[in-house]
Amino acid sequence: MRTSRADLPAHDAQFIGANQKLRFFPLSVVSAKGSEITDHTGRKLLDLSAAWGANGVGHAHPRVVAAVQEAAVTGGSASVLSAMSPAATALAEKLLSIVPAVQPSEQRVILGHSGTDANSAALAAARAATGRPGIVAFAGGYHGGFGAAQQVSGVFIADGLPAAEGTHLLEYPVATGDADRDTHTRDRVLAELDRALAAGTIAAVIIEPMQSDGGVLVPPTGFLAGVAERAAAAGALLICDEVKIGLGRTGKWHGFSHEGVTPDLVTFGKSLGGGLPLSAVTGPAWVLDAAPASTLLTTAGNSISAAAGLAVLEVIEAEGLAAHAHERGDQLRALVREAQLQRPEILEIRGLGLSLGIELTDPRDPEDLAAAAELTRRVIFRMWQLGVVCYLVRGNVIELTPPLNLSARDAERAVETLTQAIADARAGLVTDADIAPFLGW
Ligand SMILES: Cc1ncc(COP(=O)(O)O)c(C=O)c1O
Repeated sequence: MRTSRADLPAHDAQFIGANQKLRFFPLSVVSAKGSEITDHTGRKLLDLSAAWGANGVGHAHPRVVAAVQEAAVTGGSASVLSAMSPAATALAEKLLSIVPAVQPSEQRVILGHSGTDANSAALAAARAATGRPGIVAFAGGYHGGFGAAQQVSGVFIADGLPAAEGTHLLEYPVATGDADRDTHTRDRVLAELDRALAAGTIAAVIIEPMQSDGGVLVPPTGFLAGVAERAAAAGALLICDEVKIGLGRTGKWHGFSHEGVTPDLVTFGKSLGGGLPLSAVTGPAWVLDAAPASTLLTTAGNSISAAAGLAVLEVIEAEGLAAHAHERGDQLRALVREAQLQRPEILEIRGLGLSLGIELTDPRDPEDLAAAAELTRRVIFRMWQLGVVCYLVRGNVIELTPPLNLSARDAERAVETLTQAIADARAGLVTDADIAPFLGW
């Protein structure tokens, strides 16, 4: 029997597996357009998450919808495994045109469905091509929700998941704005990297140029460039995970562009599909062709997802969304800094472009991280009650990854609602019973 709209929240609890849920409030989405979600009661909400960044060009972007409709009606290959798909080839060609490549080498693309499979494919290719087993990854990193990508993800390893054998997990250095301190942290971690690379067993260094789930963290200037230089000198490949922050979100096409780095392999997902499942790895042929028939996903490169991906890339370019993300990010940062004057609970806003993190604290005891996390859960619950959707990472950081075409007015509304929600949460308007059913992370 089909679930009626009114029953959606109850049916969610009954039918969707708990291991696939991160719920912060009882949200059901029945339709969405741009930055606006409509829930099962007909209420309109402002979406500041875009499904953890998956709807990067906004919900139901007309150009993406048209491309998907045309591909669905035309029909075409549902798989690149044994038959070429013109849409997949066009997408691969377009992707390679926006990704800088280590020269001279022919470049390839591997297509998939999710950031997890893109990173797993990149890791497998790096191990096969170099003949080395080891991987350097970073504490707080998130590269995938299961399998090989999960086994090098710092957030899961910290929770007790055994790391893949040969994984070296390094500290992820964080820029503080204090130049001396940042240089010191950067150089300390680079020295750790030197030690990990010294044995010659590392196939690849996998890194988010800016960490998202680890707490929305930007590394000190020169860190990524230092990693790239050391990896190249040691014959290890650099994999930049652009799944969440890539494709215009940070104000440039790529997160790594802020450091002028040219990675060996780049992984994409989330917003690439415009809401459909689509991921990609780009990299040199000698790596991505190293183990033929080793990354087999039947519906990879299907013509509908590929058409969506191509439309997404064209939209980002045609609408100047990277520049827009930069501008809107600056506006949000300025507004949150103003709000800080009224609300001491706002410890900091950080990030790049429209990949922002707002860290909260409990002013009664700034050292108490559990109290800060508790407050953050209540604040995002209250924001949802007030009509704004956003989620949290690392306990006490509200993550904003809205559609890149967020309007200036919606940015104002976002910060007005945040300020009100903090006041309401502190005033006790969100009860224990309200948030108890929502475990979040
Ligand atoms: C940086 C990063 N890489 C990879 C992934 C995994 O992507 P997916 O959930 O599409 O498999 C995520 C998901 O949040 C991510 O943030």
